Amino acid sequence: MPTIALLPGDGIGPEVASAARRVLDAVATDLTYEEHLVGGASIDAHGTAITDEAMAAIKASDAVLLGAVGGPKWDSTDPTAVRPEQGLFRLRADLGLFANLRPVRPLPALYDASPLKRELIENTNMLIVRELTGGLYYGERGRSDGRAFDTCVYSVEEIERIARTGFEAAKTRVTSVDKANVLETSRLWREVVTALHEAEYQHIELEHQLVDSAAMRLIAAPRDFDVILTENMFGDILSDEASMLTGSLGMLPTASLGAGDGPSLFEPVHGTAPDIAGKGIANPLGMILSAALMLRHGFGRDDAAAALESAVDRALEGGIRPRDLGGTATTAETTEAVLGELK
Ligand code: NAD
Ligand code: IPM
Ligand code: MN
Repeated sequence: MPTIALLPGDGIGPEVASAARRVLDAVATDLTYEEHLVGGASIDAHGTAITDEAMAAIKASDAVLLGAVGGPKWDSTDPTAVRPEQGLFRLRADLGLFANLRPVRPLPALYDASPLKRELIENTNMLIVRELTGGLYYGERGRSDGRAFDTCVYSVEEIERIARTGFEAAKTRVTSVDKANVLETSRLWREVVTALHEAEYQHIELEHQLVDSAAMRLIAAPRDFDVILTENMFGDILSDEASMLTGSLGMLPTASLGAGDGPSLFEPVHGTAPDIAGKGIANPLGMILSAALMLRHGFGRDDAAAALESAVDRALEGGIRPRDLGGTATTAETTEAVLGELK
């Protein structure tokens, strides 16, 4: 029996995690769940954003399903403060999850839920491949003498392995996004991506684009993109921007994958939404679609994953709309609508 480490986290994390659990129970009855604290919930209980015991149990699991971590209660500008996000960073680093896949596929039922014109977003189908264990997130940082610094470091090996993920996932084209007109790490990125393309992936079209104009093109012509390959921080920012093509940040799922045989991690792109936490109105669909990615990438259960995804499609076609998509449905009502389509 596969074991899932379920990490609800903070804010709306537990609300959307229990929604995902309900729909998973409907499509995969043989999965077992072990819950662990992460983020602010773990800080409150243990003083640390994730304990060694939780990490050990998670490493021994078959997949990790996470809600979201963080919130105003633990926010601080003190450089020595324990932060909820540290739990997430430890999970990503210790599990070796360097490849973060963020599919952006606006559903026809939601074409008119996006603030962008329907003609622009129709048939958009892109995958953001975000490097997840390097760059600014993991570089040395600190403060001294009234100054603060963060460092961005990338090695050839780190760039090559994520570039390979991008080329393997591409159908026609990889758009590698960087800031090579300013950053040395971006110039190395461009060099390594180009060399790998030359050596092994000439059947895929490769283009390079600077991140500022890529952010513009994402809104102006989203259909131009197949795979967007980019570093950690740029991928973080561009994926929240891209989420609006689907109508809401609450719709986007992600899979974080590594090279080894340890568990992969699945979570929605959104955070803990402190402004709506506790109200029962969060959109659970990004989390439910992350559970579908878990079934597909974590367990190779393509049929169950597709069943879940098409139940979400049909529920939306049937008219269910949580608040972030312009409707009034609660988290529970949205979840029921998906469950109804699974019966
Ligand atoms: P956020 O994603 O939590 O919220 C941004 C906006 O989107 C808010 O208005 C929120 O209400 C809305 N929103 C997000 N998800 C939604 C959903 N499922 N349904 C309906 N509306 C939704 O971003 P933020 O406010 O910048 O960050 C809040 C906290 O979340 C911070 O502490 C941040 O570090 C954390 N965070 C965690 C993760 C994660 O655990 N993976 C990801 C992003 C942010
Ligand atoms: C995400 C989140 C995290 C990130 C935060 C919570 C540190 O925004 O997964 O997109 O920046 O990676
Ligand atoms: Mn983010």
